[in-house]
Amino acid sequence: MNQNHIIEIENIVKAFPVEGSEPFLALKGVSAYIPRGEFTVLKGRSGSGKTTLINMLGALDKPSEGKVFFDGQEITSLPESAREKMRRTKMGFVFQSVSLIPMLNAYENVEFALRLAGVKDNRTERVKECLRLVGLEKRMNHMPQELSGGEQQRVAIARAIVHKPRILFADEPTAELDSHSAKVVAGLFRDLVEKEGITILMTTHDSSLMNAGSHLIELADGEVVK
Ligand SMILES: Nc1ncnc2c1ncn2[C@@H]1O[C@H](COP(=O)(O)OP(=O)(O)OP(=O)(O)O)[C@@H](O)[C@H]1O
Ligand SMILES: [Mg+2]
Repeated sequence: MNQNHIIEIENIVKAFPVEGSEPFLALKGVSAYIPRGEFTVLKGRSGSGKTTLINMLGALDKPSEGKVFFDGQEITSLPESAREKMRRTKMGFVFQSVSLIPMLNAYENVEFALRLAGVKDNRTERVKECLRLVGLEKRMNHMPQELSGGEQQRVAIARAIVHKPRILFADEPTAELDSHSAKVVAGLFRDLVEKEGITILMTTHDSSLMNAGSHLIELADGEVVK
């Protein structure tokens, strides 16, 4: 495996069973890599297989065939307990619909992720630092419902990076945002790559965000076209 690649995948096939018919191939033998310390955009139309692929890379699902190497280690054959620990400590996730805990304020939502990752030292400082990175330190004590959609998504990003994951997976994080907030999030991702040295993989079907990253993978009908 190339040391500059945090992830490499080889011939990933994902077949979903379909009742009374042949299985549906959502991924048809995908090989690709994610460069370390860069912002990669995974682009493709609705139904092209982006979520299916990001779920394999983030150890949320297993391929029917093929291998996924993360930091030099093949992860599809690891037991679920090891995959779960890997997700909690080395990976961060942001999804299309923001899922902050409604009873916790912005600060507490971010701190909760740090507790889950088992971090004990300097929690307060790190939580504040991350809220500052996303430009929301002044909203720290706001409850989720007292924040705009874009602000909530930024809290979710702070929460996803607070434990210093190796990689942040973001599946359509801008889909529910207006075009201005979507650009703010894309700019924030570029900042995080620079300031935190994190690797980011973001999926989008928004062509205006296609050039937001420094590496582009394009999927069409379960195959890499670029
Ligand atoms: N659990 C499943 N069972 C059967 N088919 C599935 C399942 N999950 C996804 N698919 C199919 O696999 C294909 C790829 O789905 P996927 O969710 O990866 O697309 P996507 O590129 O993320 O689309 P979008 O931009 O709409 O989120 C779709 O045709 C979908 O219907
Ligand atoms: Mg999707």
